[in-house]
Amino acid sequence: MSRIELDGLTKVYGSDVVAVDDIDLTVKDGEFVTLVGPSGCGKTTTLRCIAGFETVTDGRIAMDDREITAEPPYRRDVGMVFQSFALFPHMTVEENVAYGMRVADRDFSDTEVDDRVTEMLAMIELPGIEERMPSQLSGGQQQRVALARALALNPGALLLDEPLASLDEKLRKQMQAELSRIQKDLGVTTVFVTHNQEEAMTMSDRIVVLNDGEFEQVGSPDTVYHEPESIFVADFIGKANVFRGSVTGGEEGVVDVDTDTGVLKATADDRLDAGTDVGVVVRPEGISLERHETEDAIGDGGTRANVTAGEVNLVQMLGGTVEYRVYTDAGTELIVTTQAGEQRATPIERGDRVRVSFAAERARALSIESIVENRVVDVRPEIEAETGS
Ligand SMILES: Nc1ncnc2c1ncn2[C@@H]1O[C@H](COP(=O)(O)OP(=O)(O)OP(=O)(O)O)[C@@H](O)[C@H]1O
Ligand SMILES: [Mg+2]
Repeated sequence: MSRIELDGLTKVYGSDVVAVDDIDLTVKDGEFVTLVGPSGCGKTTTLRCIAGFETVTDGRIAMDDREITAEPPYRRDVGMVFQSFALFPHMTVEENVAYGMRVADRDFSDTEVDDRVTEMLAMIELPGIEERMPSQLSGGQQQRVALARALALNPGALLLDEPLASLDEKLRKQMQAELSRIQKDLGVTTVFVTHNQEEAMTMSDRIVVLNDGEFEQVGSPDTVYHEPESIFVADFIGKANVFRGSVTGGEEGVVDVDTDTGVLKATADDRLDAGTDVGVVVRPEGISLERHETEDAIGDGGTRANVTAGEVNLVQMLGGTVEYRVYTDAGTELIVTTQAGEQRATPIERGDRVRVSFAAERARALSIESIVENRVVDVRPEIEAETGS
């Protein structure tokens, strides 16, 4: 299989739409890399450049050590499943899957083509549907045929642009498993695009978070989730509580941050000087909840950092976890999750007063420069809307 190298890849549409802005990325042989990011950030453009459907404005693309920047798509040894509908509607399944072989430089005999189509349909576990038209297949079956078509020429790299987006939740899960199995079995180097974070987290070796044509962060699912380098990434991957504030001091990787919720202690990778505007990011599972019935000062008299009180406004069972929305006395809304199995003598319910706390190790202070305004979790307007104040 193949290694894909992007070196300073840039794509400008017209004179001023910079869709992809000077990105460098090496996708290792057999690796599964996922591109995520808001709509219009350049995911599809990146894939189309790799596949050869766009001429690049600047930079180079190589597969293994062969530069392919100027090669036409059929000489690139890549298979692609497109974002918007994937199959040729006027061709049978067989004609769709065989399409790449029919137009390839190399001549394949009819027997070779037939055998390969049979083999591909077996791989996607839909044997015997050669003569059907795409309209006679379910959405999930069409997606699988599109995958078979992309893989028919046994490409060194597979590019998948939101291939599972049109599927319902259950089918999507099945197809995720199926796709992972096929990708691992073939060991094919894969670049995948999805809007579904859970999909990105479970399927990828590495995740690339794109924002406006540029990389925000590249790392393992674990790293981008637990060690986001910007508030944008923290907010984009998974759920995040963000407390805005200003650094007042600190030492050895832990800073004090003055926020509406009081002074919070949070870890900081970079040196953050006093006065720096930051967002303190805490994942929902990093926060603990306890019932707090008395009107006493919270915690040990209110001197401990990262403790606050509030009221539970919503309790939702989400499969294996329970999610709580807590409106704090400071007027912010927090998302808190606990394991569903974590039984309590009396379950916490909507309307209960609670004490909310988190360790400094579960909180990360990130410079606010990285905030893209409209993506930051700032729920106060919502609260105001609900309470009518
Ligand atoms: N053919 C084109 N001509 C001009 N601008 C384009 C063209 N194709 C894409 N763009 C612009 O380039 C930018 C990146 O588009 P792209 O399709 O790569 O986004 P995306 O990340 O795939 O978004 P989505 O998640 O909505 O699919 C957008 O601003 C888009 O409007
Ligand atoms: Mg797209």
